[in-house]
Amino acid sequence: MTTGDVKDPGLAPAGERRIAWAWADMPVLRSIRERWASEKPLAGFRVAACLHVTAETANLVLTLKEGGAEVALCASNPLSTQDDVAAALAVTYGVPTFAVRGEDAATYYRHIAAVLDTRPDFTMDDGADLVSTLHQERPELIAGPEALASPPGGGVRAGTEETTTGVIRLRAMAADRALRYPVVAVNDARTKHWFDNRYGTGQSTLDGLLRATNRLLAGSVFVVVGYGWVGRGIAARAAGMGARVCVVEADPLRALEAAMDGFLATDMDEAAGLGDFFVTATGNRHVIDRAHFERMKDGAVLANAGHFNVEINIPALAGLAVSTREARPGVVEYVLPGGRRLYLVAEGRLVNLAAAEGHPAAVMDMSFANQALVLEWLAREGAGLSRGVHPVPEAIDRRVAALKLESLGMKVQELTPEQRAYLSGWKSGTE
Ligand SMILES: NC(=O)c1ccc[n+]([C@@H]2O[C@H](COP(=O)([O-])OP(=O)(O)OC[C@H]3O[C@@H](n4cnc5c(N)ncnc54)[C@H](O)[C@@H]3O)[C@@H](O)[C@H]2O)c1
Repeated sequence: MTTGDVKDPGLAPAGERRIAWAWADMPVLRSIRERWASEKPLAGFRVAACLHVTAETANLVLTLKEGGAEVALCASNPLSTQDDVAAALAVTYGVPTFAVRGEDAATYYRHIAAVLDTRPDFTMDDGADLVSTLHQERPELIAGPEALASPPGGGVRAGTEETTTGVIRLRAMAADRALRYPVVAVNDARTKHWFDNRYGTGQSTLDGLLRATNRLLAGSVFVVVGYGWVGRGIAARAAGMGARVCVVEADPLRALEAAMDGFLATDMDEAAGLGDFFVTATGNRHVIDRAHFERMKDGAVLANAGHFNVEINIPALAGLAVSTREARPGVVEYVLPGGRRLYLVAEGRLVNLAAAEGHPAAVMDMSFANQALVLEWLAREGAGLSRGVHPVPEAIDRRVAALKLESLGMKVQELTPEQRAYLSGWKSGTE
């Protein structure tokens, strides 16, 4: 089997160090790997993984291998690959890895095809490009849920999905009756989106913006578009750095929440003229558009934290500009008629991964513990699951939370039998 396609095998030692650094902060995944060393719950199964190729992902892949799986990996975004990590996976750990930072669209899809060529039993996706390509171009590789009761081999029987945008796409596929096997929405586990989307993206988005621009946040007007899990995290962190935060949100409940969290809730037309920084986190298309660029202040910085590079209408920005140049590495200056300059970071791709290193390992520990435990559950107890999008079993979610809390040296309050009885009764309220 091929070892894949990586930028430079000579980068492997640097990648090994990076993987080890992240591992130190992944105690929950470590406990799973220790248990799997003897249990081998994934023995004989092949996994096709399409994830951001980072040090944390490497640790998930090595854990799956310890569990007995054969894993092939490609990137879920052309700009998020850490080339040294990809090299270490391919060279040091013998994982077929197909990922080169900055790959063009044709290479990106060629890499997805290469991972599908390994004839997987399970897909592990981040954004649903792997699942969508499989269904449209390689449907003969799908065995369907009936295979969940059979030994490994025979085709794709089930999968997992890591992010909000992927879950939305999969639900659309299921509504069209196009999704041919069960996929577990790992994103929707509370130990995933409450922490990864909020605290992970919150911190790493500011990290990416600051590495790219080195601009001062204190006193600036910072516009967050979308007040979901990701947007909340970014807004809270920007406020913590002294920015005046303005939130643009389409859902009145969430806009109200932003208002009561202390932020100015408004629409994009008004926010466009106020912001020094704009960060999109909606999962939606062209939320910052031509009319908004025309109102922006000279020097405004634009970035995206949502899954795809569609949130800022970049073709419209390019069409409006009289000239462009690279102002700093990863920052393109667009000069508009009249001389105003707008700065786009990381080509409008996930700024936290493209301009920084993605989420800290401590938070990916929980997301990837869910991925690992869900795959084990599918392998051992998946029989009977139907086609469609399924939640992470509650027991897995609670177990990940308990293990993480324990690793932090913290505790929960155990209820007494009297308290349990009180909470489940209705006859006596007051003493
Ligand atoms: N950068 C990362 O590492 C990372 C991590 C997790 C999730 N994501 C991605 O970030 C995006 C958001 O994820 P989430 O979990 O916060 O989703 P979410 O569904 O909780 O929030 C999205 C919000 O955007 C709002 N919205 C939609 N269109 C809008 C518009 N035109 N203007 C203003 N608001 C609009 C929605 O009402 C919703 O409240 C998704 O694409 C997800 O896949 C990225």
